[in-house]
Amino acid sequence: MNTTVEIAGVKFKNPVMTASGTFGSGMEYSDFVDLNKLGAVVTKGVANVPWPGNPVPRVAEVYGGMLNAIGLQNPGIDVFVERDLEFLKKYDTKVIVNVCGKSVEDYLEVVERLGDEKRVDMLEINVSCPNVKEGAIAFGQNKDALFDITEKIKKVAKQPIIMKLSPNVTSISEMAKAAEAAGADAISLINTITGMKIDIYKRKFALANKTGGMSGPAIKPVAVRMVYEASHAVDIPVIGMGGIANAEDAIEFIMAGATAVAVGAMNFHDPYTTEKVVDGIEEYMKKYDVKDIDDIRKIV
Ligand SMILES: Cc1cc2nc3c(=O)[nH]c(=O)nc-3n(C[C@H](O)[C@H](O)[C@H](O)COP(=O)(O)O)c2cc1C
Repeated sequence: MNTTVEIAGVKFKNPVMTASGTFGSGMEYSDFVDLNKLGAVVTKGVANVPWPGNPVPRVAEVYGGMLNAIGLQNPGIDVFVERDLEFLKKYDTKVIVNVCGKSVEDYLEVVERLGDEKRVDMLEINVSCPNVKEGAIAFGQNKDALFDITEKIKKVAKQPIIMKLSPNVTSISEMAKAAEAAGADAISLINTITGMKIDIYKRKFALANKTGGMSGPAIKPVAVRMVYEASHAVDIPVIGMGGIANAEDAIEFIMAGATAVAVGAMNFHDPYTTEKVVDGIEEYMKKYDVKDIDDIRKIV
């Protein structure tokens, strides 16, 4: 039985990854989850300097998921390299660093800085966070801006790059094609869907930011549809995510066209979700005599 997948020359032991921002850099989860079992750890977004994030409250529960407006709080690249990358050196899993920025220059600084870090296998460029006012999603909602930033990053990046796309667009296929045309090695989707919650008793927004990104099981059908459309529009690999709670969900994404999948909000609900998805995919393959995970990709 072969569960390995390859993306831009990087070989993953299985297609299961952590979704950025829901697993830190693995440190806190490592008491529960054997990181060696995962295809990859995708880190929380890291910027060139520390970001404080948005004012609280910045998370709220909703039916079938959650809203967050964390605002990409992170300790900055210096602390990340010394603390988080050092920690990840102990594990036999691939490391994908998620990069955020407010300007093209911010992104380039982080990408260049990580260029000589052997522990970093790939970079995931977040151009789709709905919770920061400058940068981020501004690049992910306009195909010319997406093309431009992708091309600039690709020129300086030493590791293969994954462009993380926003679902808050009219045509995901067009965005996927723009990233591919500019040289992206892969794309990942979906980031969160912009939402809002009002506390009717306090007569206030549930989040200080008013709006937040919706994630969790309720967004899965939207994510599967977008992964299907994007993977049929481009030839580069697609990493699918959005509401994955178990192996069945992960397999659905693979059948829709995803080469790999990532588990996000469900890590908060059940910290063992990633490992259960790894085991469940193997059980499915055994039960239905699937010899190679590649054999069930894009079969619908
Ligand atoms: C609390 C929280 C923080 C997140 N932070 C990031 C981030 O730093 N960078 C990023 O690209 N995506 C971030 N995301 C988006 C997730 O990686 C993922 O794309 C999205 O939540 C959909 O997957 P899910 O429904 O499985 O959570 C975050 C999501 C949540 C819930």
